Amino acid sequence: MTSFWSFWVSFISLGSIFGCLWLIYVTRKSQTSDVETENTTGHNFDGIEEYDNPMPKWWLYMFIITCFFGFAYYIIYPGLGNFKGVADWTSTGQWEAEVAQAEEKYGHIFTEFAATPLIELSQDKNAMKVGQRLFANNCASCHGSAGRGSIGFPNLTDNDWLYGGDPETIRTTLINGRQGAMPVKGLNPSMSNGDVDDLAHYLLSFSGRSDDDTAAARGATMYQTACAACHGTDAKGMQAIGAPNLTDNVWLYGGTKKRITHTLLYGRAGVMPSQTGKLSEEKIHLLTAYVMSLSK
Ligand code: HEC
Ligand code: HEC
Repeated sequence: MTSFWSFWVSFISLGSIFGCLWLIYVTRKSQTSDVETENTTGHNFDGIEEYDNPMPKWWLYMFIITCFFGFAYYIIYPGLGNFKGVADWTSTGQWEAEVAQAEEKYGHIFTEFAATPLIELSQDKNAMKVGQRLFANNCASCHGSAGRGSIGFPNLTDNDWLYGGDPETIRTTLINGRQGAMPVKGLNPSMSNGDVDDLAHYLLSFSGRSDDDTAAARGATMYQTACAACHGTDAKGMQAIGAPNLTDNVWLYGGTKKRITHTLLYGRAGVMPSQTGKLSEEKIHLLTAYVMSLSK
């Protein structure tokens, strides 16, 4: 805040408190006596008259106490422009203190989990309950609360893996993140729309869904030059680069002809964000075990 706005905010905040005190003072002064009288203000409506009596004492004192409370609050906590308050309180500081407190309270649980081997951990019911909560907070927004995924977000409960389902690979996925890269039209950017159609027929034929064998055969030839380098000569995929198996009728981006054609024409680039820095090593260990438990 610039010093002008800082001054302005402080001026208005303190001004309204002192304004209130001043108002109480002057209205008290103009009152002639503290005792209730039969004097009226002169207002008369429908036979109802308004007495001109002083405020009850307790009410008046409450007013004054409130003003002093407000004033003290401004001195202790930040509120007057750039003045930080004598207590040095900040919302970030409070949050950090709460996190530290929680870390102290629950940290040892994660340390214990971290010392347990992954396979054993993935069979520990209590640990998996904690894992489920971590998953709900950090992963479910993309992979779904049950880990079943959706279009573009892999299902983690099946045994079909883009990058591999052994413990170390899952851990690496979480630590480093993953970036899929399916280039437009594979390695042959000059491919015609007819070629794309042939390729779609070829891919559909693995699940017996192509109605044009000659197109599928042409696609098979095209496949070997434009696609096999990544998806393998048998189209069973390559986990090292996250190229999916195209023969198993499990689809990351959908397996209809329309969706396959879309994948070929526009490419795909799924991103799994790295969890390093977001989650502690212990939590990544626990989540690795949780992902393992999902696919059992
Ligand atoms: C922003 C969305 C997003 C979040 C959040 C996210 N993921 Fe992912 N995850 C993805 C995408 C997209 C992929 C696929 C990457 C690709 O297409 O190459 C993926 C891939 C994976 C894989 C590899 C699957 C395979 O078949 O090899 C695992 C395991 C995984 N995620 C686990 C997790 C866990 C555990 C969390 C929580 C800590 C998490 N993800 C959070 C989007 C996300
Ligand atoms: C440079 C390596 C590379 C080449 C070449 C390549 N792909 Fe891919 N392909 C990938 C990767 C990696 C993915 C996963 C993308 C992601 O995770 O976002 C993918 C995804 C796909 C998918 C989506 C699969 C699903 O489950 O939804 C299809 C279909 C596909 N490729 C077909 C092809 C065809 C056909 C060709 C040849 C024209 C080809 N790819 C060439 C790497 C490649």
